[in-house]
Amino acid sequence: MCGIVGYTGSRTAPALLIAGLKKLEYRGYDSAGLALQREGTLVVAKKAGSVADLEATLNRDLEQVTVGIGHTRWATHGRPTDINAHPHCSCGDEIALVHNGIIENHQELKDWLAGEKGHHFISETDTEVLAHLIEEFYEGDLLVAMRQAMNKVVGSYTVLALSAREPGRLVCTRQSSPLIIGLGEGENLIASDITALLEHTRKTKILEDGEFAAITADSVEIVNADGAAIETDIFEITWDLEAAEKGGFDHFMLKEIMEQPDAVRETMRQRIDREKGKVKIDDLGLSIDEITALDKLYIIACGTAYHAGLVGKIIIESLTGIPVEVDVASEFRYRAPLLKQNQMVIVISQSGETADTLAALRLARQKGLKVLAITNVVGSSVAREADHVFYTWAGPEIAVASTKAYLTQLVALYLLGLYFGEIRSYIDQSVAKELLEGLIALPGQIREVLSEASIDRLRAYCRHLAGWESAFFVGRNLDFPVAMEGALKLKEISYIHAEAYAAGELKHGPLALIVEGIPVIALATQKAVLDKTLSNIQEVNARGGAVFAITQKGFNDVAGQVDGVFYLPPVNDLLAPVLSAVPTQLIAYYAAVERGHSIDKPRNLAKSVTVE
Ligand code: M6R
Repeated sequence: MCGIVGYTGSRTAPALLIAGLKKLEYRGYDSAGLALQREGTLVVAKKAGSVADLEATLNRDLEQVTVGIGHTRWATHGRPTDINAHPHCSCGDEIALVHNGIIENHQELKDWLAGEKGHHFISETDTEVLAHLIEEFYEGDLLVAMRQAMNKVVGSYTVLALSAREPGRLVCTRQSSPLIIGLGEGENLIASDITALLEHTRKTKILEDGEFAAITADSVEIVNADGAAIETDIFEITWDLEAAEKGGFDHFMLKEIMEQPDAVRETMRQRIDREKGKVKIDDLGLSIDEITALDKLYIIACGTAYHAGLVGKIIIESLTGIPVEVDVASEFRYRAPLLKQNQMVIVISQSGETADTLAALRLARQKGLKVLAITNVVGSSVAREADHVFYTWAGPEIAVASTKAYLTQLVALYLLGLYFGEIRSYIDQSVAKELLEGLIALPGQIREVLSEASIDRLRAYCRHLAGWESAFFVGRNLDFPVAMEGALKLKEISYIHAEAYAAGELKHGPLALIVEGIPVIALATQKAVLDKTLSNIQEVNARGGAVFAITQKGFNDVAGQVDGVFYLPPVNDLLAPVLSAVPTQLIAYYAAVERGHSIDKPRNLAKSVTVE
């Protein structure tokens, strides 16, 4: 989620690193920093804010420096402050490093290093542990020390380091996080993204998980965890800069849709104890007494996050027995809600900066209620002002249309529901276990939904849809909020007027709008109401509507009654929204592509709405 770049050669490193970091800023970062080698010492400059803010602080006397590393941060552990910005240094400031990812056992390592080994820590980050850990093993060879240190680390990471005692040498490693070595003439580079390298070289070596590399201006040494040399092929990059930023996809939206298996997995990481069959989110800061005493929850959000809240209501009520009211933030504020003791407000916001959501949060706190925020941005206003925070680890979302953040918000709500349900002894152990196993399977199942063959099936229907100015989404129970989210996505980027209805409501009015060929997307993933949904589909069929159904494999009755069908892998009904949302995102995306619209920046919209 962070951006990393390193350079060793004969050109001015600070300018080159700053240019590289700017190329990575499209991912949206909150702080930046450099560590440079100068005459046997390390000079570190770092700052909360943009890369340009950092650039403004750099002294001219650094122009002679030709070796360094840089970082742009998307905060995970610790707020975006100057001190938490990377690089982080060892006690003696002899080693500096930058990191992308999460060190899962950082607390355990920190306790050991700060206690037994006497290291002094200054930041709130997990990353700083790595600088001290490598220092602990350092005996003059950074590559050896990094190999030994990483042996003790659990997590996903890219690490890039340099030592004041090894002029011209950069050392790096990776685990489940990208790292690319760029090969130049009399210079070499390292970066987390191809975008930071393209201006300098198209010849690269791609480091694999568990491999380590040391580079100088004219050498690249790659070894495995035991120190044995590894031969790596040279990979020539053919993408242009714009394609590289989007990871080779045509649009950020599609890239982000494709990132969903990882986003969902990251959001669950460390929050499920599979052995005990339990959710472990004790770091929320809510006591057992507080959770047990809850007699009502409000979920407040806007847009897509509001739709996640509507799914959350059904989940939380069924897993915890706590009544849940869901409100659009801009309505909640002005309707004098009857807030009482033993109630809690959950706000959901990807950006953590939405003005209406923030105002609702403030109102709830003013009235004496505790607020739990589900957000994707560490240190955002919502995160800072809430009493408790649950971070979704979707990574930066750039496309205005929210996709991966939505899926991770759903996951957060499942985890909260299971956690509260367990504490309140409301949920049956075997049900909890089944749902946990179901959650763990989701990333793989989302990947299946995203397979090329599945997408081809959708595209044919999207060509039909793109020719219409009006479309409907219908569903019952958990399928209804997913239908609402599908309609929002379609409106937002294809500009087709789309309405979502509870399928049972069609006959109470909207059926009058069904004409020959009009696209109707029917969500039919809920076993308990499948027959009812099929009857509603028949009502549409009878009036000539072109129904495309999204259903589960094994729901065989559906295919014969619709014009097109998309099968999801079999899934527990309660978890189905995480899978069924994905084809609706793809439908919106491909309909908009067919219509030739600006996908990532739809007209009249902004990613983060900071005005009321
Ligand atoms: O950052 P937030 O989650 O608070 O944003 C809320 C809405 O503005 C947002 O979900 C919006 O509806 C999306 N563009 C929909 O794709």
